[in-house]
Amino acid sequence: MNNDKRLIDITWDEFQPLSLPAKIPYCNRNGCPYHVLIAQQFDRAMLDDLGILATKIRRIAKSKAGMLFLSSLLEHKRAMLYFSQPSSRTFLSFYAACQILGMKTAELRDSTTSSEMKGESQEDSVRTFSSYFDLLIMRSPIQGFAEKMAWLLSSTERPVPIINAGSGKDQHPTQALLDIYSLQRSFEKTGGIDGKTIVFVGDLLRGRTVRSLSFLLTNYRNVRQIFVAPPQLQIGPDILEQLDAAGVTYEVHHEFEPVIPRADAIYMTRIQDEWDKDGESKKLDTSAFYFTARHLALLKPQAVVMHPLPRRQEIATDVDRDPRAIYWRQARNGMWIRVALMATIFGRAPEVAAYYEQTLG
Ligand code: CP
Repeated sequence: MNNDKRLIDITWDEFQPLSLPAKIPYCNRNGCPYHVLIAQQFDRAMLDDLGILATKIRRIAKSKAGMLFLSSLLEHKRAMLYFSQPSSRTFLSFYAACQILGMKTAELRDSTTSSEMKGESQEDSVRTFSSYFDLLIMRSPIQGFAEKMAWLLSSTERPVPIINAGSGKDQHPTQALLDIYSLQRSFEKTGGIDGKTIVFVGDLLRGRTVRSLSFLLTNYRNVRQIFVAPPQLQIGPDILEQLDAAGVTYEVHHEFEPVIPRADAIYMTRIQDEWDKDGESKKLDTSAFYFTARHLALLKPQAVVMHPLPRRQEIATDVDRDPRAIYWRQARNGMWIRVALMATIFGRAPEVAAYYEQTLG
């Protein structure tokens, strides 16, 4: 049954307060992502499909003929990267993913070069981008900004898909997709993500990657989530309510070292002090929440250490050489899952699958 709903049929005042599950039919079309706004819009089948597609794409990309095929898929499309918050990985991996698919790109990362300096609103800026581009990829410090823009464009002459590349403290859905893809690959030979214990460490209050990934993990059976943070930065009650509603087992701890031996994956995060009002988290001693080379001996042989990056001191650089440290692989996986995502948004997944069968299947 098709439950798709259209943003043009609802007012912003009706849409904004909807629960996250109630927003899903406005994001997806025919079981595939159209707008990518919230992690909640991805179910298990979509996560499996995207992971399989990303792996096919990276294998296809190993040959020149394969790269030429991939770059023909969206050569008639143009993407706008509108990043009003700093980014290295998300921006560059989307940029590279667009190149792989042959999509032309433009970018705006510094509002001092745009007509926002003349008083134009961000809403009007985005409406202008939609006149010229077929896909808008945007990062913003404003919670719900991508949702608002998807709604606003729905009633214009040129509505285009919008990808949320990080919004406020609330959502980073494509980071969660790459994290899931990294877990799928890491646990390929050990039964997959089902049944695993995932430990989140650091600034869990303000880390949007944790919030999005914690939700995506509810798609898997018997996953235990453990949250480890100083009391001031502990995971928010809204996430725990979500986990309760999904029947997920979780634990909340304020000590890191005792949980390390139980982890199948440790997801480290940095302190997000850019959200401080008064430098309050800079005053905290968070060193008890760092992962150091000494901790490698406590870690299961098949476990992985993850980080969305950028990092500061929370993972010592001498951990990087351990094969269980997968954060640099995570960053690369981000490019491939974003290629798969954009190919899916524009309906090109069947062509990729057919090419794979003909050449590598
Ligand atoms: N993980 C992540 O979002 O990194 P950037 O802020 O560098 O994009």
